[in-house]
Amino acid sequence: MAPTRAAGAPGAALVRVLADPEAVSAAGAELACELAAGAIAARGAFRVALSGGSTPRRMLELLACEPRRSRVDWSRVRIFFGDERAVAPDHADSNYGMAQRALLARVPLAPGQVHRMRGEAPDLARAADEYALEIAREFGVAAEGPPPAFDLIYLGLGGDAHTASLFPGTPALAERRRWVVANPVAEQATTRLSFSPPLLCAAREVAFLVAGASKRAALRAVLDGPRDPQRYPAQLVQPACGRVRWLVDAAARASAEER
Ligand code: 6PG
Repeated sequence: MAPTRAAGAPGAALVRVLADPEAVSAAGAELACELAAGAIAARGAFRVALSGGSTPRRMLELLACEPRRSRVDWSRVRIFFGDERAVAPDHADSNYGMAQRALLARVPLAPGQVHRMRGEAPDLARAADEYALEIAREFGVAAEGPPPAFDLIYLGLGGDAHTASLFPGTPALAERRRWVVANPVAEQATTRLSFSPPLLCAAREVAFLVAGASKRAALRAVLDGPRDPQRYPAQLVQPACGRVRWLVDAAARASAEER
């Protein structure tokens, strides 16, 4: 199905409706291969931020195996994380742990190429600031300046229209200066590390991977509903110069008649 421009989606958002979760995962993996080649050719590196949750796992697995594995020059790839739970990397809920099992342990990456968010840190605000410094060092820019442009940021969508760890009604939605924040999520009685809206909006490319009927209402609200980022935080992702792709399956994106 040809990509469509979503009515309510901000900016140049393109929506591709794919048959099922496997097709969404394959499209996400293919996008990494394509954008990595372009970024490495243009800038000598591919700086990508992975999303968490369950949806990206299969996409990472597909990226870690042939034929896609050999299409990426892994020596030029720099891996970051768009958010992390307040857990250690070996915890079942760790986004890093999921990516480590699905991709990072299966492709040739040196330790310095993978930048883990320290969700286990006792002081998450300090961990957020330290991660922002790590990003600044990788991009060779001042940490106090405007946020750098990731070549690709993967994102998911929660059933409440959150993305990364930007949840409805949480303080991080109002962040306009920091690149990385420790965001208290009262509903989950936890604090989570997350890219901020400014850092997300600096990206060259953003790819949302969304699958399943459970996401239908949230996806409709974000793409077709009124602009209300406090309720639908994914609407905040409007790169000034970048492109947003929505790779969604048919179950998540009902046909126009069903909406
Ligand atoms: C996280 C993610 C989060 C996720 C959505 C969708 O840490 O949980 O970053 O934003 O992308 O909650 O999660 P699923 O893919 O598991 O539905």
